[in-house]
Amino acid sequence: MRVAPAQAMRGALAVPGDKSISHRALLLAAIAEGESEIRGFGRSGDTLSTVSALRALGVEVDDDGERVRVGGVGLEGLREPAAPIDCGNAGTLARLLAGLLAGQRWRQFELTGDDSLRARPMGRIVEPLRRMGAGIEAAQGGRLPLGIEGRPLRPIRYELPVASAQVKSALLLAGLYAQDGPTTIIEPLVTRDHTERMLESAGVRIQRKQQEISVWPTDRLRPLSLEIPGDFSSAAPFLVAATLLPGSELRIAGVNLNPTRIGFLNVLERMGARVSVFNRRSLGGEPGGDLEVTHASLVATSVKASEVPLLVDELPLFALVAACAHGESTVTGAADLRVKETDRIEAVTSALRGLGVRIAATGDGFRVRGVPTRIRGGRMDAAGDHRIAMLGGVAGMVSREGVEVGGAEAAAISFPGFFQLLAALAQRLPLIEP
Ligand code: S3P
Repeated sequence: MRVAPAQAMRGALAVPGDKSISHRALLLAAIAEGESEIRGFGRSGDTLSTVSALRALGVEVDDDGERVRVGGVGLEGLREPAAPIDCGNAGTLARLLAGLLAGQRWRQFELTGDDSLRARPMGRIVEPLRRMGAGIEAAQGGRLPLGIEGRPLRPIRYELPVASAQVKSALLLAGLYAQDGPTTIIEPLVTRDHTERMLESAGVRIQRKQQEISVWPTDRLRPLSLEIPGDFSSAAPFLVAATLLPGSELRIAGVNLNPTRIGFLNVLERMGARVSVFNRRSLGGEPGGDLEVTHASLVATSVKASEVPLLVDELPLFALVAACAHGESTVTGAADLRVKETDRIEAVTSALRGLGVRIAATGDGFRVRGVPTRIRGGRMDAAGDHRIAMLGGVAGMVSREGVEVGGAEAAAISFPGFFQLLAALAQRLPLIEP
């Protein structure tokens, strides 16, 4: 896909429903008592993997394009599937589902995924789930496929060695089955809290004291009726394009503004970006609102370890923003980027370097020498990673020569139609050809 430079970004848009919340809504609805209704579902490659996984487990999921209805089978009602469950590219699905399956007594399951997911670490869930009494076995090196036998579980008190919302959530879900709980998770840094919020609204007893979260076992979950807000991570590429291009003005309606997700907004603001939030309201049990962004000149900044979980998926975009800001920007404490859909430290630095950006990888982040002007442009490869594909789209818009993005179709993992929307909002429609 070739993305030509744009003069400015103007107009109004909405982004797909939040991916993290969409996965969680399906999973909790599956084990609730009765029918749940989900509106604003974020349909994407990843969330469709969750739909198929649940169907394979005997859950009825009906999507009429408007709303998704899920026939909950109750906490222990998931059926043993005929074949291994394919989690595709979705780490959130593989890890959260493992937590649920660990409690499905005496049934056997196998979880697998695509090449990228099979290379990602699963030891981080296997080890604590085993402490809870789970029958769970990973392949060589703590990878997928995972073999799981559902067993009675016991509560644990567990300090997470890495700040990961996926691991926290897997353990909270397993905690629903842990007799005589509570199960308590201590996080080293605050991470996204969608699971906690949704469990609370399904009637589960949850206690939160700063970074310590406890969940009590339950014998039933109330079905959900939920409107999922727009995904801030999908709004972020548009915030970047509009901030970097003079004359831009974009309005993005109905975006999730959960404080555990908007670290990138705070970083952009301290670099000098002009983003206003208005119509603040509660959206599906989460804080939300509309965003308006106009062009601004930016100065460099440092992203510290404690901020990383709050903008972890936006760090590739941060690298591009930093390339166009005055001065040297750095990211530290982000070693976990190396075990995302790709090694994102490697993928971002090599992609942007190929477009003329002065960026260097470090062990746990990167360093960027920014110049407040358009980047040169050139060719880059998405390396099968949706966030790198979208980075390429924005990079093309803010470049002098345009960007040829190899493997741009990866964007559909979280945002089908991303490149079309980007092009539709670009002033002086850039030439985009397959
Ligand atoms: C997610 C948590 C984060 C994030 C991922 C989605 C979630 O992963 O990068 O895109 O939905 O819980 P980690 O928990 O591995 O940091």
